[in-house]
Amino acid sequence: MLERTHQVPPIDLHQFSSQFSSGATSVCDPGAAPVCGRAIFQVEFELSRGGRGGTTRGRTAVIVGAQWGDEGKGKIVDVLTQTFSVVARYAGGHNAGHTVIINGKKFILQLVPGGILRPECTSVVGNGVVIDPLAFLKEVAALRSAGVKVDGNLFVSNRAQVILPYHRMMELGSENAPGRVKIGTTSRGIGPSYEDKMGRRGLRVADLLDTQLLRTHIENACREKNTIAHALFNSEPLDADKMFHEYADAAEQIRPFVRDTALLLNRALAEGKSIVFEGAQGTMLDIDHGTYPFVTSSSSTSGGAATGTGVPPTSIDTVIGITKAYCTRVGSGPFPSELLDAQGEDLRKRGNEFGAVTGRPRRTGWLDLPLLRYAGMINGISWLVVTKLDVLDHLKEIPVCVGYKVDGKETDEVPAQACGYEKIECIYRKMAGWASPTQDIRTVEGLPKAAREYLAFIEKETGARVAMISTGPDREQTILVPAFVSELELKNC
Ligand code: GDP
Ligand code: IMO
Ligand code: MG
Repeated sequence: MLERTHQVPPIDLHQFSSQFSSGATSVCDPGAAPVCGRAIFQVEFELSRGGRGGTTRGRTAVIVGAQWGDEGKGKIVDVLTQTFSVVARYAGGHNAGHTVIINGKKFILQLVPGGILRPECTSVVGNGVVIDPLAFLKEVAALRSAGVKVDGNLFVSNRAQVILPYHRMMELGSENAPGRVKIGTTSRGIGPSYEDKMGRRGLRVADLLDTQLLRTHIENACREKNTIAHALFNSEPLDADKMFHEYADAAEQIRPFVRDTALLLNRALAEGKSIVFEGAQGTMLDIDHGTYPFVTSSSSTSGGAATGTGVPPTSIDTVIGITKAYCTRVGSGPFPSELLDAQGEDLRKRGNEFGAVTGRPRRTGWLDLPLLRYAGMINGISWLVVTKLDVLDHLKEIPVCVGYKVDGKETDEVPAQACGYEKIECIYRKMAGWASPTQDIRTVEGLPKAAREYLAFIEKETGARVAMISTGPDREQTILVPAFVSELELKNC
């Protein structure tokens, strides 16, 4: 087994009163005082930084998916915005679908950060995001018609890349081309748009607003992409003139949202405002660290928060990883703990595991601890949020993948090649189920003992501490762990 690399020592499963270095209690401490979820959020976090010339900068946390996306990041960002002043999305595009349910009302956010649902919060779409202007405007219009404030509190980076129709054309062609590896993408043009960014031939939001440049760019790009798509995929050519007029019109509607958001965010920090960096997708979909090539095309891991917003890595305080109590993925690619039987179908039904964006059924499986340890290492996760605990409520026992065996030898190593996963045999340990409902429980000590033991086991095996537990899709169905609350309070002093 690899050595755990986290700063926080894993807790002893049998000593529920273990203390962490901060002096805070763990999720499994039945004696810890119950903490009202809202109490902590009445405090505005400010972190005194003597080393920064005595200035005070705001507190920051990255929310990152610890699996293959859809872990419930949207819900958790929404809960955190009760205290954080700014939410900044740093990667991906409208391939993301972040569901937030507030008093039974459902919002699915794709490009707009979760902070938008609280009018006092500022929402920023960072430079690391790829923006389809039409999708952005559609989302903004839907939010407006639902009575959500979007003017003066939502900003888009002038350096973000623009998705244009030829990106979708190229993606469609290549996904369906004979002999190509089918990734099972969301067909939103995400990959080809990041290709153009890295090829230094992309269009950025600032360029979108420059009418003359926009016309020349679209004419040249269409000539090139139409030729390639016709030759490779026999695609119908796109009309550059029509495209120019449509996007020039969209540009004028987007103009009021556009800012130098790196400047905006750094100023906000200097003024003591707190920022949540909202991740999209998940660790195993990261372009470098995921199950390549079955990944998305951006840096969805925590490192992307710095490059994708222009806030320096030295200004990031905490990384919070989000994991389901089990595991899912949508699209093709390796999934060691996947269930291809009736139990998998049962998890899909109980967890309502259908993609928020494409409606595709999600593949389901048991919690994979080697992957979670890997996500911890890559992202520097010190806190974990465990979502969808309620989906396991009916089970008498819960298998968990605790390690991998390759060619008969135990290993914790995550393969670099997709074919490497074919050799993996999961080692399972059966945990006791709690077989009782958790949806209405609001405190850690109110959880059944077996559920607390399940969470303690995750802590022990990952070296990260459980910060929150989600037992239902609604904002209110959230348990805040006293240790998480007290650590934030300590830092706030
Ligand atoms: P994201 O992409 O990480 O924001 O996650 P999605 O919104 O795509 O998928 C998570 C799904 O699970 C959504 O339908 C949420 O409403 C739902 N959800 C989130 N937390 C919980 C929970 O604790 N229990 C249940 N049953 N559903 C949850
Ligand atoms: P959120 O933010 C789950 C998957 C796609 C496909 C692969 C590449 O809601 O967690 P792409 O269109 O990005 O080129 O597709 O990545 N994928 C996601 N899966 N949640 C997401 O986002 C995803 N975004 C992309 O299904 O397998
Ligand atoms: Mg999602």
